[in-house]
Amino acid sequence: MKDAGLTRYLSIEDFRQAARRRLPRAIFDFIDGGAEDELTLRDNRRAFERVRIWPRVLNDVSAPHIAGEWWGASVKAPLVVAPMGSCMLAWPQADIAIARAAAAHGIPYTLSTMSTTSIERMARAVQGILWFQLYVLKDQDFNLQLIDRAQANGYGALVVTVDLQAGGKREKDYRNGISIPLRPSWRLLRDGVTHPAWAWQLMRGGFPQFENVAGYGGMADHGLPIAARVGQSLDDAFNWEKLARMRDRWKGPLLVKGVEHPEDAKRLVAMGVNGLWISNHGGRQLDGAIATADALPRVAQAVSTTPLIIDSGVRRGVDLFKARAMGATSAAVGRAVLYGAAVAGEAGAYRALQILIDELKLSMKLSGAASLAELGPQWVQR
Ligand code: FNR
Repeated sequence: MKDAGLTRYLSIEDFRQAARRRLPRAIFDFIDGGAEDELTLRDNRRAFERVRIWPRVLNDVSAPHIAGEWWGASVKAPLVVAPMGSCMLAWPQADIAIARAAAAHGIPYTLSTMSTTSIERMARAVQGILWFQLYVLKDQDFNLQLIDRAQANGYGALVVTVDLQAGGKREKDYRNGISIPLRPSWRLLRDGVTHPAWAWQLMRGGFPQFENVAGYGGMADHGLPIAARVGQSLDDAFNWEKLARMRDRWKGPLLVKGVEHPEDAKRLVAMGVNGLWISNHGGRQLDGAIATADALPRVAQAVSTTPLIIDSGVRRGVDLFKARAMGATSAAVGRAVLYGAAVAGEAGAYRALQILIDELKLSMKLSGAASLAELGPQWVQR
């Protein structure tokens, strides 16, 4: 796919600003915002910014090598699309648009439990590397059914999110009163009038629903903001034993998302988990959690042979370079690709991923790194 006339967007921040203009405030805040005082949201970014590279010279960097074999798949770049719920608020069929963009770049796409596209519909619509992310709900049978559905539909990895035992306090969402399904209200009417392009597309594309959990009893209360509804359905008694049962049920690679502490990392690896996903949910849950780029080196030291993913705050290709140098196999992006999709659907998501990949290659060239395999702690100063 070409960049479809979107080359004027030079950075993820360009897409973010355009998304801010295009979306009603409540929707933009839901995507962009963090929990409480947004300390972790800001610190995630700062932690990446603080890392500095020690560039090398006189290396042939004419063809930076960024592909690899990770979790049973041939991946073209050290980049994964993180799971995101409720994306259809931003663009019609946004999940499929983003997944197609990821497939076109040869990178994994992770479908959320709370996506607005079902496991089955996504598998039919997209030929690419698909992973499934599980939010552990209170009903254990329902969790196992979701796992079985992902398995039956050929998803290549299961990602169990463990940093959301309760819904974080995103005050912007409470104030804006955002919910799925969207409730008719004067505010919604006003948003439609003041953002006609968004409203027209929403009406054409259909109102978003949580398709994977349709029929799940705990999701019945439509009156609550998204975070609260998700939060009240989660299993806050989820523990090591229950995770071990999921380990036994799922036949492919199992990744655990939301890990930050080296001791947890060690214990997860000991129980046979195939990958750790260092994340604080993009600063959307525990405000005050350590920035992931600060946590990564200690986790990498603790579990040196286990492949790691890092997310939260990745906005530049050079962040992928830094992540690799600090011990991650790959970085994941949430908002960076969603801003692109919010501006121009699949083409926007594609362009956003292209920006990150181009920036990664450029930073490798300018740092004298011919291949990702060369990168290690000696390349960075923290
Ligand atoms: C998320 N995230 C998320 N995580 C998860 O495990 N399941 C989910 O359903 C969601 N939903 C979701 C919706 C939206 C709108 C956002 C922005 C994020 C968290 C996501 O997977 C990832 O951890 C963060 O987005 C990473 O931070 P950045 O890249 O957005 O800074």
